[in-house]
Amino acid sequence: MKAAKPSAKAAKPRAKAAKPRAKAAKPDAKASQGDKSVRPSALAGADKLADSSVDINAALKQQVADIDNLFSAQLSQFSSLWYTPLGCGDIEVNTNDGDGDGDGDGDGETNARSRLKFSSLSTRFPHAPEHAVSMWIADMDTAPSKHIAHAISAFVSSHYGYQSCDIGDVVAARYAKQGAVIAANSVVSTASVMAAVDTALKVCTTKGDKVMVLSPTYGPLRERIAAQGLNLVDVSIDEISFKETGIEIKITALLDPDCSAFVLCHPNNPTGTVLSETHQHDIARFCDTHKITLILDEVHSEFGFIDADATVDASSNTNTNKACVIRPFAINIPFAQDMIIRINSAGKAYNLSAIPAASYAIIANDALRAKFAKEIDSCHLEATPVAKVALIAAYEKADDWLALVLKAIAFNRQYAKALMNVLSPTTPFTLGEAGYFLWLNLNQYFPQNTFLEACRRGVIGVDGASFNAPGYLRLNLACHPSAIKTALLRLFSD
Ligand SMILES: Cc1ncc(COP(=O)(O)O)c(C=O)c1O
Repeated sequence: MKAAKPSAKAAKPRAKAAKPRAKAAKPDAKASQGDKSVRPSALAGADKLADSSVDINAALKQQVADIDNLFSAQLSQFSSLWYTPLGCGDIEVNTNDGDGDGDGDGDGETNARSRLKFSSLSTRFPHAPEHAVSMWIADMDTAPSKHIAHAISAFVSSHYGYQSCDIGDVVAARYAKQGAVIAANSVVSTASVMAAVDTALKVCTTKGDKVMVLSPTYGPLRERIAAQGLNLVDVSIDEISFKETGIEIKITALLDPDCSAFVLCHPNNPTGTVLSETHQHDIARFCDTHKITLILDEVHSEFGFIDADATVDASSNTNTNKACVIRPFAINIPFAQDMIIRINSAGKAYNLSAIPAASYAIIANDALRAKFAKEIDSCHLEATPVAKVALIAAYEKADDWLALVLKAIAFNRQYAKALMNVLSPTTPFTLGEAGYFLWLNLNQYFPQNTFLEACRRGVIGVDGASFNAPGYLRLNLACHPSAIKTALLRLFSD
């Protein structure tokens, strides 16, 4: 973990819950859509919240206001992209409906209400007050590109029966655009990323084997390893050197040569860690030498923000909103490719979990690919034709949509960082160099029941324990900036 800041703050008992609020009247979504020039201030609702439900001293309040002033251009530029229902009436209408005309002709509110992220919160998170800010599951509060819906609609109106639909060429073209060469015939479609990871484990391990995994990392990766009767070997991210620390450790000292596989989430969820080229090379060399299959989950690779927010703090408005694709892990290291099962999906980057869009594995080694494909085929775990159509439309037609979303996320990362520096300068946190997660170390701040305490304060994130990091909280920043501000005020104000 990035040891961003020393954690000197004394642990304080913090029991205050967010005050329950009266349900606000629904805003007239269509009216707001029709009158873009009078869109309310992006942060009006959050300001109201700050005044009414969070104790904040005048000096701190001024510092938060200064941040909003500093970023006022970006706040108004990006706020209309997001549809994040909050409980205080500050529902923003999403006009990024992906068809390029910005008219928001979908029913953003209805769609948002049916999303898992916002549904049954009182049952799912009984400790959270009404109108808690929901920042848990990893999807984005913006509608996907309309090009994808149009492509699916055209396809299902004109096709029936089992289909022959290949994504190899489109995936290869996507990687080529990003400067990476892969063969079209090395691509095997899968129904989901987790289906691919599970199958990869099945074909390259035997019950009782040891399997390395980054720690902390995405919980279901750990769960599948355990569920297959394999023994988890944690490779601590804390111990991996970070470019910014300048401390070099030999990463291979952390690896176990007796493992059959290494499930590596890269960029890592939740820490956003992107390993240096040197570390990638060393890991690839180690795995090649010891015949360890590298199972790479690269589903967050489109959300790269290297150098985009390194210099931003509350006193310098240097937001450049730079985003980049994270290069596929060890892609240029020739000797390693036969040991790699590389997994990705159009679902995460293009926000297509409702479909979901096709996932895929890229496997250069013919024998390994044949084994994997046979297993996928026999379990009917290939991507459906509709999922493939969604991927093709996303990769071929939705780059403008993605570019805009990435800019908005880059801004949200900067905004969160600036707020953290003011609201809780001693709380260690990281955004890493990729992804849309704020990973907070609340061990000192809420020493008891971190996740429940955050819930009680009206902030629903993901419990660090599910990533093997108790005391941490993951907040999803792919949302309206007012949700970020409200959440951080609730967590860090007395
Ligand atoms: C790192 C990572 N892998 C896999 C998944 C799940 O992907 P899928 O739903 O395609 O199995 C997620 C979802 O958040 C994820 O963050």
